Amino acid sequence: MIDYKKTIAEKIAEVVNLDENEIIEYIEIPPQREMGDYAFPCFKLAKKLKKSPIEIAKEIKEKILIDESIEKIEEKSGYLNFYINSTKLIEEVLTEIYVQKEKYGKSDIGKGKNVIVEYSSPNIAKPFHIGHLRTTLIGNSLYKIYKFLGYNTIGINHLGDYGTQFGKMIEAYKMWGNEYDLSEDPINKMMDMYVRINELCKKDEKVLEACRENFRLLENGDKYCKELWEKFKELSLKEFYKIYDLLDVKFDSLNGEAFYSDKINEVVDILEKKGKLTDSEGAKIVDLEDEGINTPCIIQKANGSSIYATRDLAAILYRARTYDFDKCLYVVAYEQNLHFKQVFAVAKNLVDEKYYKGLTHVSYGMVALPTGKMSTRLGNVVKIDDLINETINKAKEIITEKNDNLENKDDVAKKVGLAAIIFNTLSTTTNKDQIFDWNVALNFQGETGPYIQYTYVRTKSVLEKSNTIPSISEIDFSLLKEETAINTVKTLYNFSEILMNTIEKNEPSILARYLIELAQNYNNFYNENKVLIDDENLKKARILLTKDAETVLKSGAELLGIQMPNKM
Ligand code: ARG
Repeated sequence: MIDYKKTIAEKIAEVVNLDENEIIEYIEIPPQREMGDYAFPCFKLAKKLKKSPIEIAKEIKEKILIDESIEKIEEKSGYLNFYINSTKLIEEVLTEIYVQKEKYGKSDIGKGKNVIVEYSSPNIAKPFHIGHLRTTLIGNSLYKIYKFLGYNTIGINHLGDYGTQFGKMIEAYKMWGNEYDLSEDPINKMMDMYVRINELCKKDEKVLEACRENFRLLENGDKYCKELWEKFKELSLKEFYKIYDLLDVKFDSLNGEAFYSDKINEVVDILEKKGKLTDSEGAKIVDLEDEGINTPCIIQKANGSSIYATRDLAAILYRARTYDFDKCLYVVAYEQNLHFKQVFAVAKNLVDEKYYKGLTHVSYGMVALPTGKMSTRLGNVVKIDDLINETINKAKEIITEKNDNLENKDDVAKKVGLAAIIFNTLSTTTNKDQIFDWNVALNFQGETGPYIQYTYVRTKSVLEKSNTIPSISEIDFSLLKEETAINTVKTLYNFSEILMNTIEKNEPSILARYLIELAQNYNNFYNENKVLIDDENLKKARILLTKDAETVLKSGAELLGIQMPNKM
């Protein structure tokens, strides 16, 4: 298929005698279609060419050699606006999607490159909160998109399954284990024990000492402590998997913090040998002033035990060796911005440049329910599986109201409810805080997951009624003249660029918003034009457009983690 951006860049580069890679960076897609399909801001070259933007625009317009794929070029206040020949575009795009089907937009730019996506990473014996839901969904989507673009992708759930709190949990279990029936709702009960033991520790130094001893025993492989720790882990994972299964989220590795506990000595050794460690009241730290970070990174506590950051450093070393990664993404809340800055800075001393340059913190904002901030510490905890199931129930009510005779209502409700949650979570820019509100997320006419599904179901029903999909040779593409049809095709054309932008910024909201645009464009087309008409030729062309919109709506939604119902 023609790469318009590239073609335009090549031609401009020829005229101004500059590198096309520089030119392509400047080419924009104008916000309004009246301003062309592509725009080149000539002021970007003014300095270099020592000419005014208007002069540059005039010169390019005069000398550029463009073929029939571009219909016209206009010069407006220092911008060159390119209008592409839509009949040609329509033919190319609609044929390509028709032929490629769900492979449309796929690429092999990632071939031979390894990308780790670390996501979800909840803490054992603690609730899976709504922030964990956000990392789970962002990571899951990034994982799928990287894979689609040919990267070898490794999904890691870096479980928070280590640390002194487990010494406390063990002590709490010893004291009150028989009071709790952990076969039901274990996480809240473990949480309860944890709160209780913490209170006791504050009052009684001896209890605190016992907790520390438990952790020491655990680290040294004591059978009783290890068994208990495994029990906590197993119970927690069982709960977490209720959520993962609902969302259909999978991981390639569950190596969490504990996995690295025997790998931290090497980190300490390397840093020691490189003379990076300094003593600070008995603790070992790395000073990061030179890196522009005021807070040093603690590597080892005064009592010799490792901390969270050290385990992350060990993980980097391990992952570099095991996966030879080109990128390692950490989808973690912005509260940990400083932590990752520190860890990445220290990592420069542990791994080659290739690896530390690939370390990326995909930082996301808070999620709030309309009732207020969600915080584990405040005890204001919504169980995520409850939230999901409640959303599915609400979806079912809406569906029933709209169409009581629908088959497989439960399956559809599940898909719609999940789409509401997933889309709502992914459509906000990652670094922004967001609100989860059922009324917004479940609105079939809003900018929501269910709206995308609704549009998809609409295409399905049109295609079902039409009964045949024409073959390409039968299509007269010049019949698709309406602006709404052209807009839909242009949006379809942009799919692969959108996917590239999504991974370049690690921002699934780009894809999410794109799907809304596609759905809106198709709906505009559908509302203004009948598809199933007597004019056979026009009908065939419109059916093909519908078929291709269906294809891209589905593959795009799946890359967000949303499944499509056939009816709703
Ligand atoms: N377990 C942590 C939490 O729930 C997140 C872990 C993030 N990943 C990492 N490599 N530190 O807050």
